[in-house]
Amino acid sequence: MDTTNICNHIAIIMDGNGRWAKKRGMPRTYGHKKGAENVVKITRSMKESGVKYLTLYAFSTENWQRSKDEVDALMQLLNEYLDKELKEIMENNVRIIFIGERYMLSEDIQKKMLYLEQESAKNTDLTLCIALSYGSRQEILSAVKSIATKVKNDELKVEDITQESFSNELYTKGIPDPDILIRTSGEQRISNYLLWQIAYTELFFTNTLWPDFGKDELWDIIKKFSSRERRYGKN
Ligand code: FPP
Repeated sequence: MDTTNICNHIAIIMDGNGRWAKKRGMPRTYGHKKGAENVVKITRSMKESGVKYLTLYAFSTENWQRSKDEVDALMQLLNEYLDKELKEIMENNVRIIFIGERYMLSEDIQKKMLYLEQESAKNTDLTLCIALSYGSRQEILSAVKSIATKVKNDELKVEDITQESFSNELYTKGIPDPDILIRTSGEQRISNYLLWQIAYTELFFTNTLWPDFGKDELWDIIKKFSSRERRYGKN
């Protein structure tokens, strides 16, 4: 299936791990473990589909407010993921990048993130962008502050601030805006995710819980997107 010309970038809000576990009488952290396994599966399917960018919401700035046990479990999973994934990422020619407030994460995790980014920087088949400790309003505010500082220091004129120059101040600098945003688990909210970047994105909501979200449904969504009428002059 060649969708390269049609869908270039998919963003996903991976929701429903907790409910998936509850339905099975298991702790929430088991749901996150299965969710993390699905990250690997979906990344592989994405590569096969020809889509070039995949952005996953792995941990939001709001997620810091969850119980210490749950945050610790998520950080542990992340740590394991960072340790294990280099081989798979290199074999599959995937470039990995991270967006978010990384200073909030442990130094150990930050080092591993940087290492994976550096090692995979020249890979070209798929860019996997993982949003970690990410919040879109925070991202927009920090862009505003950076631009204001440049204006104050006479490095930038107010009239030279454009949509393009603003985009270049965001964590997602250099990444095209998503064509598709998927949220699993039946919730229909954006939850502070890529607010600037999804201005023209097609939204897809599915009741499937994240650990159950598979290749068939993903391809179905890509197909639906291809057949949706998009009146382009961007609206
Ligand atoms: C929402 O489920 C999911 C998250 C908190 C983030 C997603 C995290 C993962 C898929 C695991 C770690 C990721 C990586 C990259 C290793 P929820 O807990 O909000 O579910 P609920 O709404 O059913 O309670």
